[in-house]
Amino acid sequence: MSELNTIAVKILEKGKGILAADESTGTMTKRLDGVNVPSTPENRLLFRETLFSASCMSECIGGVILYDETIKQESSKRNKIPELILEMGSIPGIKVDTGAKILAGSTNEKITEGLDGLRERLKEYYKLGAKFTKWRGVYNISENYPSKLSIQSNAHALARYSALVQENDMVPIVEPEVLMEGEHSANDCFEKTSEVIKKCFEELILHKVDLKGIILKPNMILAGNKSKVKISNKEVAKLTLKCLKNSVPTEVPGIAFLSGGQSEIESTENLDLINKINDTDFIISYSYGRALQQSALKFWSRDIDNIEGTQEVFNHRAKMNTLAAQGNWSKDLEI
Ligand code: G3H
Repeated sequence: MSELNTIAVKILEKGKGILAADESTGTMTKRLDGVNVPSTPENRLLFRETLFSASCMSECIGGVILYDETIKQESSKRNKIPELILEMGSIPGIKVDTGAKILAGSTNEKITEGLDGLRERLKEYYKLGAKFTKWRGVYNISENYPSKLSIQSNAHALARYSALVQENDMVPIVEPEVLMEGEHSANDCFEKTSEVIKKCFEELILHKVDLKGIILKPNMILAGNKSKVKISNKEVAKLTLKCLKNSVPTEVPGIAFLSGGQSEIESTENLDLINKINDTDFIISYSYGRALQQSALKFWSRDIDNIEGTQEVFNHRAKMNTLAAQGNWSKDLEI
């Protein structure tokens, strides 16, 4: 087993998943505005440190994706945040893309940027303790989208990013997110997501990325949020697994879904149903942002000094998702 494969498997072993706490300052400010807490560096750190010191970090959270600001911050006990995460039994990672910008040639679509100077930034993050990284490409679905141009150029960027990350001894999380926004059917989502993922692997192989040393972070197959025709959670699970089986090479050790705007319970339930029918060798788990943090953030905002109470809420959500990652969750475990 290569070292990168060992790290990838360790992050997702035994039902563990990833806490995506890599919101940019702009996104985190929106989240904090939503619960009426001022978005200061101190408050952003306080909320995140509260999560990173919760007991579920050792049993449920195999890895944490950090944002540039957080990886350089110190905890209240004066150790660096990556050290705190390691002490808690989890693995620190870092988002390295610099965001999605308008794609020249297709004003309605985006291309993710951040390749310039990436090799140097990766060396710095590695020194700061990161063992894995994340890069997210975004695609929307409508009649003419995602275009070939967006599918091709985002796959190219994801592959160049992954090759550089492995060159620097870290595991790349490859995140092609086909967005839920829109009127499209689940079948459209299935078709487009399959095309997007296949193109990503074509490029990853071209760029000589070791597929055993990556984690894929895809969306689940869902009908658009404005679609009139919804499908059942069991259908979501079936279509999602079918898509992965058709488009992900078997060398890939692990797949960790994004939640993408699903509610906490919905994303847990869908993950559980996928694992109940998982007949592949892929480890299938979670890499949730909102679906792991929403309730905890709401609880914390009522009294930002209530560390234990906030941790209890977060522990519960992490535990539910870790059960779901093993196909062992049921609704009556929710409180
Ligand atoms: O890139 C997206 C995040 O890492 C996952 O966030 O679970 O809220 O979609 P989400």
